Amino acid sequence: MLDGKTIILGIESSCDDTSAAVLSDGVLLSNVMASQEVHRKYGGVIPELASRAHQQNILPVVQQALEQSGVALDAVDAIAYTRGPGLLGSLIVGTSFAKGLAIASGKPMIEVNHLQGHILSHFIKVPGRESDHPGFPFLALLVSGGHTQIVRVDDYLDFTVLGQTIDDAVGEAFDKCAKMLDLGYPGGPVIDRLAKEGDPSRFRFAKPHIEGLDFSFSGIKTSLLYYLRDRLKEDPDFIEKNKNDICASFQKDLIDILMKKLIRATEITGIKDIVAGGGVAANSALRGAITSEGERRGWRTFLPELRFTTDNAAMIAIVGYYKYQKGIFCPLDAAPISRAADYNL
Ligand code: KG4
Ligand code: ZN
Repeated sequence: MLDGKTIILGIESSCDDTSAAVLSDGVLLSNVMASQEVHRKYGGVIPELASRAHQQNILPVVQQALEQSGVALDAVDAIAYTRGPGLLGSLIVGTSFAKGLAIASGKPMIEVNHLQGHILSHFIKVPGRESDHPGFPFLALLVSGGHTQIVRVDDYLDFTVLGQTIDDAVGEAFDKCAKMLDLGYPGGPVIDRLAKEGDPSRFRFAKPHIEGLDFSFSGIKTSLLYYLRDRLKEDPDFIEKNKNDICASFQKDLIDILMKKLIRATEITGIKDIVAGGGVAANSALRGAITSEGERRGWRTFLPELRFTTDNAAMIAIVGYYKYQKGIFCPLDAAPISRAADYNL
């Protein structure tokens, strides 16, 4: 406690970003991130290298987060850490660090579901800025490198998955498209940028027909692969000549798939508070589509600040804050889970 406020230290290490953050009654005091450049040259995250980089980064990142917040470790009320889902080796680093710190400092530990963090990032309060929060119940479109879901949120800790991908995540589709076009990793931001200069109606790729609110992205990826293979036979420079249009068209198709199911979910549930979360929520065309569809349909839409779309510890700490208020802690023998489908971790 500091001046009667609840202080939460958050630790995130589920994939390739090491991050630590400090919140005071949900207000952001610091959010330090160390991204791992090492994966770029391999065109994707290499789990062994990710664990090693977390191991190198975690102590300095946590120290910096405490220093920047101006809060001493003594004043921290609880240590919230990502228990899953994510890469097991990466999660082990954050979990073990949180345990060591908990034992050394005598502070309780709170386990956090990474996906819940992406969704509740909308409740992080930024000093000096009034922000509008979604009301319950709301629908979350969770779009990241590992997940694609529509989630109904009835309270801070009451989540129901209404639909999810049956194969690839939408972020993976962005990244794989970028790989086919030789654009580097992660591909999403590059496609976003190139698509701005391209014609989204130039090419059409095969769209999935999936029942209900579930998604599929593997078919459209294969459709792009075959399309490129055939065109390259006729013209080896096809990609180079049409890069922007391919990006714009493929991106439009991905967004259409997401929006169709999101609209369906609002019709089924009648819920009109809509939030987006996860790395792909940084995509400018998706943000535009949610905003304009919201205006047309009378939704209240909430798009996260760009710094809260990528993996960060502030989102882990905000979940920790709500769990702390309910007295939900975890035992010291908690082990990471790579596939944590259960939101009620
Ligand atoms: O949430 P996140 O940082 O990590 C996971 O939990 O997976 O999401 C990473 C994903 C990557 O697939 C990346 O390509 C994608 O988010 N991404 C984007 C954009 N920025 C990041 N996809 C499309 N447009 C963007 N601007
Ligand atoms: Zn994430």
